[in-house]
Amino acid sequence: MAKPSVLVLNGPNLNLLGRREPAVYGHQTLADIDGLCREEGEALGLDVACAQSNYEGRLIELIHEAMGRHHGLVMNPGAYTHTSLAIMDAIRVVDLPLVEVHLSNVHAREAFRHKSFVSPVAMGVICGLGAQGYRFALQALAQHFAKGSSADGIGE
Ligand code: DQA
Repeated sequence: MAKPSVLVLNGPNLNLLGRREPAVYGHQTLADIDGLCREEGEALGLDVACAQSNYEGRLIELIHEAMGRHHGLVMNPGAYTHTSLAIMDAIRVVDLPLVEVHLSNVHAREAFRHKSFVSPVAMGVICGLGAQGYRFALQALAQHFAKGSSADGIGE
């Protein structure tokens, strides 16, 4: 059976991790996080692909393209978390398990960060644990796949 495949998708401004408000988001770059995800994927027996975009429409296309290519998603939608009905609808359409990740604890921050359009369509949400949150998200997906027959139907 093929390895389950997971797309790790990062939204706007996350390409600047490392330089962007390190007191809030830490010193790790997006390349560091992608590397950590690939390493964790290897340990868990997952194929991990990583993508980032600053554009809402591109993120939506990447979510659509995940259909038939990936079995699940880890997504940090950045500020679109709090604004994007369109990203929520895209996730609903593709019907893949998605774990929402935030580096910072959005609930301990400004009130406008407390609302997420993504959480209602996510399998689970991890926030405030920094880059480790991506690791935990992959672990949650690996467990989810182990329970079902996740790799059926794609590339087989
Ligand atoms: C973030 C939290 C969002 O509120 C913010 O707009 C981001 C990053 C996080 O990872 O903590 O861009 O998603």
